[in-house]
Amino acid sequence: MRTPPLRTPTTVNALLSEIADVGRDPRRGGYSRHVFDAAERELREWFAAHARRLGLDLDVDRNGNTWAWWGAPGANSTVTGSHLDSVPGGGELDGPLGVASAIAAIDSLQSSGWRPTRPMAIAVFAEEEGARFGSACLGSRLMAGQIDPSAAAALADAAGVTFGAAGRDMGLDPAHFGEDRETLDRVGTFVELHVEQGKSLAAGARPVGVASSILAHGRWRLDVRGQGNHAGATRMRDRADPVVVAARIALIARDAARSRDRHRPARATVGRLEPVPGGTNVIASRVNLWLDVRGDDDSAARSLVDEIAAAAQDAAQEEGCSVDVVEESYSGRVDFDEGLRERLSRLLGDAPIIPTGAGHDAGVLASFAPTAMLFVRNPTGISHSPEETADPSDRDAGVLALAEVLRDVDQAV
Ligand code: GLV
Ligand code: MN
Ligand code: MN
Repeated sequence: MRTPPLRTPTTVNALLSEIADVGRDPRRGGYSRHVFDAAERELREWFAAHARRLGLDLDVDRNGNTWAWWGAPGANSTVTGSHLDSVPGGGELDGPLGVASAIAAIDSLQSSGWRPTRPMAIAVFAEEEGARFGSACLGSRLMAGQIDPSAAAALADAAGVTFGAAGRDMGLDPAHFGEDRETLDRVGTFVELHVEQGKSLAAGARPVGVASSILAHGRWRLDVRGQGNHAGATRMRDRADPVVVAARIALIARDAARSRDRHRPARATVGRLEPVPGGTNVIASRVNLWLDVRGDDDSAARSLVDEIAAAAQDAAQEEGCSVDVVEESYSGRVDFDEGLRERLSRLLGDAPIIPTGAGHDAGVLASFAPTAMLFVRNPTGISHSPEETADPSDRDAGVLALAEVLRDVDQAV
């Protein structure tokens, strides 16, 4: 069958400029758009309006993920999408680029006169970053049955609001959170477009790449306990200061990952810690510290965590403190479907096939259906920061690539 030429998409940058003021964070810079908060709700409405404009049918599943269907929902569907939530003070592209590009790609396919032979959908997953409730890819992992639904409903944000209560406010029923085979089983192929979070494409001539793999990664909370006391009245030798232990843990994590990263990818980050009670003239009684660890495979990631946890125990003991380590979420290494990624790379003129250290809902979907990711060049490689960017022409190239991929997937047997 002769396929009509795709028109140059004009809408992805316009789409993103429509939401440029939603969820700006004046204190941190960039955007703080957290699942079910006012900003993310506004983005959901923006997405729904564009889906309706394209004649897509909207459905919010029982875990809070939104689906916009071109054609009646059904088996063997071609699904693209990403997420709208951000990290605290994040960039404008991590998540929304994939959603806006999906809208623009379907717009471009529709205006070229093309029609899919099987159902096509845009999926917007809830709480991908885990920035509000602590658990990454919460919406997709609940759907996949990878998280206990009552434990998920009990997850609380910094203000003590639970995921269950926040979901109820959105019209969801927490009793219905959890594995959703009906929705999952409709996905025949999933393709997520994302800004590249790294510099593999930056030095090259190609604006779009195809993902090969995702590092194994997870989050651990370390509760460090000491003795709260007076900053002036407590002699230095009499202290059990958990902030000192936390500082040592940050160094332990950095050094352990750095020595491994010379040979195979290994990452360890302390990006969030809370001294309790948190007063200038107060020796803290506790520090809640979050550790993000990534490794080339499960055993590399887990042995790095074990090494850090053991050294953290020693540091705590030396400072007269204690530490408890709790796993908050974990995702194993993902290798994307080899046949699909090779085919898409060829389709896109031998697009580079590149790995990533960042987690994605595509990594969750990859266990259930052939899944691929397209990455759009990021000239600095910076992400999870207000400085995250991509050239407007590269964003357009991403949409064109995604439209070609969706058309190809639809027609693949
Ligand atoms: C999500 O972006 C992650 O990799 O943490
Ligand atoms: Mn992210
Ligand atoms: Mn993302």
